[in-house]
Amino acid sequence: MSNLYDRLLKKEAKLAVIGLGYVGLPIALAFARKIKVVGFDINQKRVDMMRRGEDPSNELEAKDFEGCDIHFTADLTDLKSVEFFIVAVPTPIDSQNIPDLGPLLGATRTVGQVLKKNDYVVYESTVYPGCTEEDCVPLLERLSNLKFVDDFKVGYSPERINPGDKEHTLESIVKVSSGCDAESAEIIAKVYELVVKAGVHRAASIKVAEAAKIIENTQRDVNIALINELSIIFNRMGINTYDVLEAAGTKWELPQVPTGTCWRPLHWCGSLLPRLQGEGTRIPCADHRRWPFRERQHGRLRGQADREEDHRFWDQPC
Ligand SMILES: NC(=O)c1ccc[n+]([C@@H]2O[C@H](COP(=O)([O-])OP(=O)(O)OC[C@H]3O[C@@H](n4cnc5c(N)ncnc54)[C@H](O)[C@@H]3O)[C@@H](O)[C@H]2O)c1
Repeated sequence: MSNLYDRLLKKEAKLAVIGLGYVGLPIALAFARKIKVVGFDINQKRVDMMRRGEDPSNELEAKDFEGCDIHFTADLTDLKSVEFFIVAVPTPIDSQNIPDLGPLLGATRTVGQVLKKNDYVVYESTVYPGCTEEDCVPLLERLSNLKFVDDFKVGYSPERINPGDKEHTLESIVKVSSGCDAESAEIIAKVYELVVKAGVHRAASIKVAEAAKIIENTQRDVNIALINELSIIFNRMGINTYDVLEAAGTKWELPQVPTGTCWRPLHWCGSLLPRLQGEGTRIPCADHRRWPFRERQHGRLRGQADREEDHRFWDQPC
């Protein structure tokens, strides 16, 4: 199993990315500049666009597809010859803020049907701690008739990119990765090191990597909620919040003004809910439905609150 990395490098083995959206497509193309890649998506229209060198998410340009050894497909049979799978499908929440694992389990079913002995599966979708091993792995085992760890390896590596951010890219941000045992943790990290110039942090376990992502999203959500509240006060005082952030941001320990879209479905909030029920825990939470990411990416806060009450989401149970 340990020579999978070498065989990927020699293009004797293939890597597949399942789900080619904001996260999956840049990863697939980055790998495709180094190794042989299959880009799999269930949306045939998106696959057709990518075959023409068009990014359906409008993040990448035609030149980003150039020189890539990648086959875009919606056909399951194209995955049969793949040995290293990366799953990057959406993890939305339902109307009750509970994670909707539909796409994740759908992608897991896809992989489970073609999984072979000694294959690797790495999840990148944002999930709650425990989801990879408790929700996805049993499905992989059942569909493949293979045994986790003995027959196939699994890892988790959360994505940190912010769509639209040309500075903090896949290549330039340190990536967290993990595996189900020491051997797989090392191979998965080495595979990511092929494309992540900033380096790869080897997390102690899959659950640690999953939990690290939850902290990142939580910090961002708390920042947003806090700034929402402060902006109301500053607004009343005739102070431009954006100017305040520019001034306050000169202190080294002040967190960055939050950006990104991973918050969009509030899934981190919903993800934690099942674990926190009964504990009486309340999490401060920004309501992203009223803080649309696209509109705020550039003129953020300049327009101030749409309505004051839109920003009163601090300390709501979620
Ligand atoms: N967008 C971000 O900024 C960001 C950042 C970090 C992490 N994430 C996380 O990464 C994951 C992916 O998010 P995204 O923004 O790339 O999603 P997206 O909506 O942009 O794209 C998802 C892609 O997956 C495809 N898909 C859906 N179900 C599928 C299935 N069963 N099999 C194959 N393909 C399937 C869709 O057709 C689509 O092309 C999510 O868990 C998200 O939380 C996103």
